[in-house]
Amino acid sequence: MQLIVATRNTHKTREIEQILGSGLAVRDLTAHPEISEITESGMSFEENAKLKAIAVSKKLPDLVIADDSGLEVEALGGAPGIHSARYAGANASDKEKIAKLLRQLAKVDAKSDRRRARFRCVLAVARDGQILATVEGVVKGKIAERLCGLHGFGYDPIFIPDGFEETFAELPEELKNNISHRAKAIRKLQAQLLALCREV
Ligand code: IMP
Repeated sequence: MQLIVATRNTHKTREIEQILGSGLAVRDLTAHPEISEITESGMSFEENAKLKAIAVSKKLPDLVIADDSGLEVEALGGAPGIHSARYAGANASDKEKIAKLLRQLAKVDAKSDRRRARFRCVLAVARDGQILATVEGVVKGKIAERLCGLHGFGYDPIFIPDGFEETFAELPEELKNNISHRAKAIRKLQAQLLALCREV
């Protein structure tokens, strides 16, 4: 049985696949160009995750999981939050988003204790347009002074998880996939997902 991740972000898909481990065939929307971009019009991670899961599960017969996630920086009042993907404009690169975040942080005179941040991930599971489950995972940490590391995606090069000195982009992928917001969310869902997949 296959699980469709409602995303074209192949980094997210790979992480979800690695965290879930074997037993499930994980695919995403890269194989479905006919499904148009879903506008993330919600006011929260949960609303956006649900609307993506519902929209895709109305179009495909599979079990669908949607991930809405982002980085919340304390000194920036929780920004970029749900706007993490488009923080520096719709077509900005990860480097441009990070550069904007570091500029904004410099403006508010962020001392080390004000560089606190967290990644948040909400997952919604749906089938035939009906939500079956939603879960959330959070990982706390701080924003690094500068970019470090080559692994991962998005804001990984500036996020140092609590208990470590390195950024997510410096840590081995397996380690990130053990402690991340996404890993924590998926773990809450794993048994249910496997059961749902077996049902079909
Ligand atoms: P969305 O969930 O498609 O709205 O996009 C989430 C955005 O948040 C991504 O494009 C990244 O910029 C950022 N993000 C979410 N999860 C991670 C992560 O695990 N590492 C780094 N950045 C992330």
